Amino acid sequence: MTNEPQIPPNEASTPASGSITAERRKFLAWLSIGLSGLIAMLLGIPVIGFILGPLFQELPETWREVGAVDQFAIGTTVKVSFLDPSPMLWAGVTAQTAAWLRRVSADEFTAFAMNCSHLGCPVRWLPQAQLFMCPCHGGVYYADGTVAAGPPPRGLFHLPVRIRGGKVEIRASAVPIE
Ligand code: FES
Repeated sequence: MTNEPQIPPNEASTPASGSITAERRKFLAWLSIGLSGLIAMLLGIPVIGFILGPLFQELPETWREVGAVDQFAIGTTVKVSFLDPSPMLWAGVTAQTAAWLRRVSADEFTAFAMNCSHLGCPVRWLPQAQLFMCPCHGGVYYADGTVAAGPPPRGLFHLPVRIRGGKVEIRASAVPIE
């Protein structure tokens, strides 16, 4: 008779149990990676769509009324405000955009984009000097929007204008191209 301890029958299968545990860990690791990837994809698709969406959709162009013809004196340039053609629901006051409107004659108006053609800073109209000035790098434009001095590579962008029923309307688009 020996004093050696007796090994219980269930411990005899220890190597097999260890193998199952390792496989379970491996499975759970892959499951975790897979679920993380799925969550990242579900969160990422809307974000990527929001960022890249505007590149693939046609931006709307809309005529916006900016005032009655009679309220603009011939030879003057004034700032007019109107709603952006594609405001987001949450845009609030940022949906408001503006342009410089010049009444050239009784039935002719010219509208300029607010932004400098150099790097896009908003230009200001100085009525005494009859010039547009850009505060960023000293760009200067004549009253007709052509470049007078400074770094702007071209004149101010024009926005299409029309008169309908005694009202002046500006065609608003996301990026002025004329
Ligand atoms: S942004 Fe107007 S001169 Fe540079």
